[in-house]
Amino acid sequence: MANRGYFSGRIGFILAAAGSAVGLGNIWKFPYLAGQNGGAVFLFIYLLCIFLLCYPVMVGEIAIGRRAGLDAYGSYQKLGGKKWGYLGLFGIMVGIFILSFYNVVAGWAFGYFLHISFGDLLQEDNMGSFFGLFVNDILDLSSTKGLANSNFLFSLIFMAMTAFIVARGIQKGIEVANRIMMPALYVILIGIIIYSLTLPNAMAGVRFYLVPDFGELKIQTVFEGLKQAFFSLSLGMGTLMTYGSYLKKNENIASSAAVISIADTSVAFLAGLMVFPLVHFLQFKLQVTEVATAGPPLIFIVLPQIFQEMGVALGRVVGGLFFLLVCFAALTSTISLLEVPVAYLVDQMNMERKKVVWGIALLIFVVGLPSMMSQGMVPFLNKLTFYKGQDFLVFVSDMCDISLTVGGCLMCVFITYQWRIHNMNEELEEGNEGYNRSFLKKYLNFTIQYVCPLLLGILSILIIIDKFFGIENVF
Ligand code: TRP
Repeated sequence: MANRGYFSGRIGFILAAAGSAVGLGNIWKFPYLAGQNGGAVFLFIYLLCIFLLCYPVMVGEIAIGRRAGLDAYGSYQKLGGKKWGYLGLFGIMVGIFILSFYNVVAGWAFGYFLHISFGDLLQEDNMGSFFGLFVNDILDLSSTKGLANSNFLFSLIFMAMTAFIVARGIQKGIEVANRIMMPALYVILIGIIIYSLTLPNAMAGVRFYLVPDFGELKIQTVFEGLKQAFFSLSLGMGTLMTYGSYLKKNENIASSAAVISIADTSVAFLAGLMVFPLVHFLQFKLQVTEVATAGPPLIFIVLPQIFQEMGVALGRVVGGLFFLLVCFAALTSTISLLEVPVAYLVDQMNMERKKVVWGIALLIFVVGLPSMMSQGMVPFLNKLTFYKGQDFLVFVSDMCDISLTVGGCLMCVFITYQWRIHNMNEELEEGNEGYNRSFLKKYLNFTIQYVCPLLLGILSILIIIDKFFGIENVF
């Protein structure tokens, strides 16, 4: 087989994996989920999920990938036979669907970055209706305000940037891109946090975010926390397995996974610390007690209003930087998602990397079109009758979330009954001498063999029941 390439070392791998993990999930979804689900209570459940379920799954996933040295399908197939290969294929399919809608939202963020930097967005007098029109009319090239408003074009460009990076290969493409964008992301994030904490009423936002409200603790809080943790850490469909296959043998998997988890969680946490002071600043300015913060409106409607309040000059700078941050976060995630099917075709079909990358990117863009058109343009996609009137993008995203926890559960079953835990331990000892005598080994073996398969299995079933029937109606 041709040389598949490697990350140059530990830092390159960690940055790339953390880049995959840190994404729209952290900056866009985490803050409003936390806001909706009781603030610090949600944070607590989220951390519990990471510690007990996600970290072990992440270690297992990377170990499988590095041992087999292949794509997600190839890894399962090599270590477990053809039947298990289907689990890898399933993961690759899920990855394709995730990227298909993810790239749509990334395209919005890219469009907003341009619109705010050029300043025209800050002239709008109704951000809500602007966003509605923006996502609705995907082909509007005739915008009167200078800059074309076509989010078809924006997502196409975003996918092209993703493909351009992935086509350059592991070290020259993925690693270099992450080495530039990840540090920049942290710097921008910290900068905006410091600024937002100086605004009037900022502390009210911090309090809202950090003071727990245990009255909010419902079983759905646990579901949301678990799904979010899996999505945010890029687990359960083979991204980290694929990245792990480019990791050298002398690197320490267990400690790398810990750094990745901490990096991801800290960005999610910090994103909340950036957003809620801003939101409460707006409430103060508008003299209202609450602005809607759930879902897409948070970053696409509420935040732009805040940038507007800052005045055009400052708003352009802070708003532009904010959306640049979102684009960086999204781009380091989309490249990891695209790499999964690309690795499959390169490894299994012996195809040439460059051609595969552009072909698959185009295909996934097309798969994403229904999600793009589900925001108002096509009424039946906007209100799915079989899915409680929700739109197609939400539907695909929900199905993917469920597939991730199921995928994680099956991966633990695979390690326990097929590959065998001692083989995983052997792989983890590489680059980590002393692992076999450590407490960590006991912890990982216990969680991967018992806690994860059981809890992930039960919770996945409950999540599915809840999604389709509503858990209150069943129990
Ligand atoms: N983790 C990323 C985010 O939070 C998205 C992502 C990238 C992802 N690769 C993935 C999610 C693989 C699930 C599986 O935005």
